[in-house]
Amino acid sequence: MKFNVILSTLLIILLSACGGQEKNEDEQQQSPNQTQTDSPKSATMANHPGKKVYDAVCLACHMADGSGVPGMFPPLAQTDWVLEDKERLIHITLEGLSGKIVVNGEEYNSIMPPNSHLSDKQIADVLTYIRQSFGNDASEITIEEVQKVRNR
Ligand code: HEC
Repeated sequence: MKFNVILSTLLIILLSACGGQEKNEDEQQQSPNQTQTDSPKSATMANHPGKKVYDAVCLACHMADGSGVPGMFPPLAQTDWVLEDKERLIHITLEGLSGKIVVNGEEYNSIMPPNSHLSDKQIADVLTYIRQSFGNDASEITIEEVQKVRNR
């Protein structure tokens, strides 16, 4: 129950943040000095099939820019968990994760739900998306790699 409350609160914050950004677009065009946060790489990832999965399944906790929520949901930008051991990354995404972990020097002790209902392709797509977004630049994850971990 408490978890649902946290989630809905986050969604509300997110939704209002999105509305605010739309309003600001006009202002941004008028002030060319404003720094663009999107790198060319993330612009190309905007059409990646993994983005749809990310937005539907992961964004509520890990945020649109992969920055997470301090003390609650760890970031996906530049973390060992995302960039290094592929099998561990696939395993976490399929089975979820709980207990104390350290991500970029910060401790988290929370619960990530499993996503084993997603297809091998959806898992491969979303993991390729996170490994190549948010300033990350790692190799893709294939459907075969997901199958191997799922059937292990
Ligand atoms: C309900 C919130 C929630 C959702 C949805 C969620 N996560 Fe997580 N995720 C967490 C939490 C909390 C942790 C840390 C768990 C712990 O403390 O042991 C985590 C940890 C991780 C980690 C390892 C640490 C890091 O930040 O690098 C990865 C990778 C990850 N999640 C990827 C994903 C992906 C991909 C999705 C979508 C398919 C997803 N998560 C959906 C809450 C969530």
